[in-house]
Amino acid sequence: MSGADRAWATVDDAGQAHDAAGSRAPAAELHTPVLLDECLDLLAPPILRAGAGAVMIDATLGMGGHSEGALERFEGLTVIGIDRDPQAIALAGQRLARFGERFRAVHTTYDRIGEVAASEAGGGVEAILMDLGVSSLQLDDAERGFSYARPAPLDMRMDQSGGTTAQDILDQSSAAELAAILRDYGEERFAQRIAASVVRRRQEGRPVRSTDELAELVRAAIPAGARRTGGHPAKRTFQALRIAVNAELDVLAAAVPSALNALAVGGRLVVESYQSLEDRIIKRALAHGATSRAPQGLPIIPESDQPYLELLTHGAARADDAELASNPRAASVRLRAAARTRDAVQAPAPPPAPPGPRAPGGRSTQSTRAARHMRNRPSSTRGGTRR
Ligand SMILES: C[S@@+](CC[C@H](N)C(=O)[O-])C[C@H]1O[C@@H](n2cnc3c(N)ncnc32)[C@H](O)[C@@H]1O
Repeated sequence: MSGADRAWATVDDAGQAHDAAGSRAPAAELHTPVLLDECLDLLAPPILRAGAGAVMIDATLGMGGHSEGALERFEGLTVIGIDRDPQAIALAGQRLARFGERFRAVHTTYDRIGEVAASEAGGGVEAILMDLGVSSLQLDDAERGFSYARPAPLDMRMDQSGGTTAQDILDQSSAAELAAILRDYGEERFAQRIAASVVRRRQEGRPVRSTDELAELVRAAIPAGARRTGGHPAKRTFQALRIAVNAELDVLAAAVPSALNALAVGGRLVVESYQSLEDRIIKRALAHGATSRAPQGLPIIPESDQPYLELLTHGAARADDAELASNPRAASVRLRAAARTRDAVQAPAPPPAPPGPRAPGGRSTQSTRAARHMRNRPSSTRGGTRR
């Protein structure tokens, strides 16, 4: 049975996944990397140029699939893997142990990528990969609450060691706050109806308590005609809650300039997004760096106004039929890539625009407890250990 077909009942303290029958699963079975060859082809030139000193940061280590592919293909490469999920760090650490000192893991969020590059690589790196979203392990682990398809507590934290859960948001948000989350992070047309239903259940003394109860509430709250279109009716609600719980868009918006500034000249960033809100952040940041800021018509463009990125993809690349047939996760992927053409000291990527939508309590998601928790972590907590 493939990882994609199998539901993971538990992950033990050592990060080892077990299925319902108790059998152990290697990380390679849990998640198939999306567009692996395309990512590595794009990252290859600076890695090959740097040879034995080349460093790649895999900012979304997950099950280590992309990292393993890179370590196998590029002999001299060292990979530093970042993940906010301690279970991912443990599983990938086991998978990549055979590469010895060529692989190191750092347990943190990817907006700390600049600090990780400085402390682990001593400065600019040749390659950075970001494969956004959740891994198949997280989706399929019955305890995590990411999936509307499996009954589970409403958790949805990528790092379960602290922070706000989806249950907290459903219990504490006003109807207006909840509707804003569903609309802004899930692009849910029926956000107000769903939010009103959640709050009504609370007022009746029978709050929603599990993923299956929430999925059923969403189904019942939307008009009958809409239940038959656009996939599972609860898909957008679950996406929205997951984004809010993990402050995903704010962390990503901070991470992209940080990643661009962590590249050496000639270094390349490849990003795979799976929904339009993420892709928009990437698209804007890359377009900004690839565009001259000089007024049109100037005969000579001052150095400070010149672009500092070269776009390597025209628009977003998508998966072809062969990839789709072997890996259903690839259906929604949008891949964008860029190369740094000038040093970050001369042309730093600007910080992201002010935070967007609001989270419970009227605060920006940047200041939710979940986001604060992650930001307060030590910058380079080794969770995966050097193996
Ligand atoms: C799609 S999976 C990566 C899969 C990986 N490329 C592979 O081939 O196995 C995304 C991973 O990114 C991690 N992640 C999501 N948001 C993160 C963040 N803000 N900081 C660090 N890791 C994050 C998730 O925990 C998850 O393990």
